[in-house]
Amino acid sequence: MKKVLVTGGAGYIGSHTCVELLNSGRDIVVIDNFYNSKPKAIEAIKKITGKDFKFYEMDYLDREKLEKVFEENEIDSVINFAGYKAVGESVKKPIEYYINNVSGALVLLDTMRKYGVKKFVFSSSATVYGDPEIIPITEECKTGGTTNPYGTTKLFIEQILKDIYNADNSLDICILRYFNPIGAHESGLIGEEPQGIPNNLMPYITRVAAGTLNELSVFGNDYDTPDGTGVRDYIHVVDLAIGHIKALDKLDKEEKGLYIYNLGTGTGYSVLDMVKAFEKANNVKVPYKIAPRRPGDIAKCYADPTKAKNELGFVAHKNLEDMCKDSWNFQKNCNL
Ligand code: UFG
Repeated sequence: MKKVLVTGGAGYIGSHTCVELLNSGRDIVVIDNFYNSKPKAIEAIKKITGKDFKFYEMDYLDREKLEKVFEENEIDSVINFAGYKAVGESVKKPIEYYINNVSGALVLLDTMRKYGVKKFVFSSSATVYGDPEIIPITEECKTGGTTNPYGTTKLFIEQILKDIYNADNSLDICILRYFNPIGAHESGLIGEEPQGIPNNLMPYITRVAAGTLNELSVFGNDYDTPDGTGVRDYIHVVDLAIGHIKALDKLDKEEKGLYIYNLGTGTGYSVLDMVKAFEKANNVKVPYKIAPRRPGDIAKCYADPTKAKNELGFVAHKNLEDMCKDSWNFQKNCNL
């Protein structure tokens, strides 16, 4: 049976997508170097789905090992989740970010070319829109103006994919621009486990609720938003994972092309909305204080999800309460 190769399949979005791929009846091969993930995620995917798959512990920059994966498996398509993702770290380690994210993607694409694999789904980010010109953001909005090397790696890889597609129209590529994924699988077995003090809002909230951190700093309450705090489009990670299945379905069915989709809900929530929703959904307290703005942050960022709805049939179904409950359920499981 033809397989989907998932790079970074033990990571936060990768592991949830592996579950949905297996649930949709697909066969998968997973690679991960556990730089920012743990082996228990692989076991959890198997436990949740009751299905087995081949796993290789390796770096996707290791061309020799990667070729072996393509030799040993009949790979039909690739979903690339491998890559570094911490905005702040990327400012301090730009070389590492460009090598791992950009060179890694190139090694993968070159290997795909060698083995005649045409279908590629890429994890991009709403960060490619920089400070967006129009809200809600459509796929036609201008990209560029990224404020950190992490975001620029996403922008560069998108450009590389466009150039590669122009040179070879037999490729079949889907770029997915994620908004803010939060939540976890309802089993509580997989979720987001950042190392050290979290940078992102939801993992920070769950740690404050758990008492491992004292209080949340709300970065700025003087933005041009209804309550002055930053507004984002939070999407449940399981919905996001299902977006990848829809993208693969499209590459399987439709004519070859290079497609770009926003994966978001289309609804923006402020930082204070998130705090209140989390407290209500889980009946816990999240103490917070107002702090200065975080450099590089923008006021508002949310998707126009129409294109993904019309062309992929993708609609996010889980609501804010689900996201808050599932994030908390996973956090409690981690502490056990
Ligand atoms: N925030 C706080 N306190 C915190 C953490 C975050 O107030 O401790 C606020 C931020 O200022 C922002 C909102 O919560 O208004 C969301 O912040 P996150 O760090 O969770 O997410 P970002 O929107 O900054 O960034 C996320 C991903 C990036 C991705 C970007 C795409 O982390 O990888 O979305 O839009 F590039």
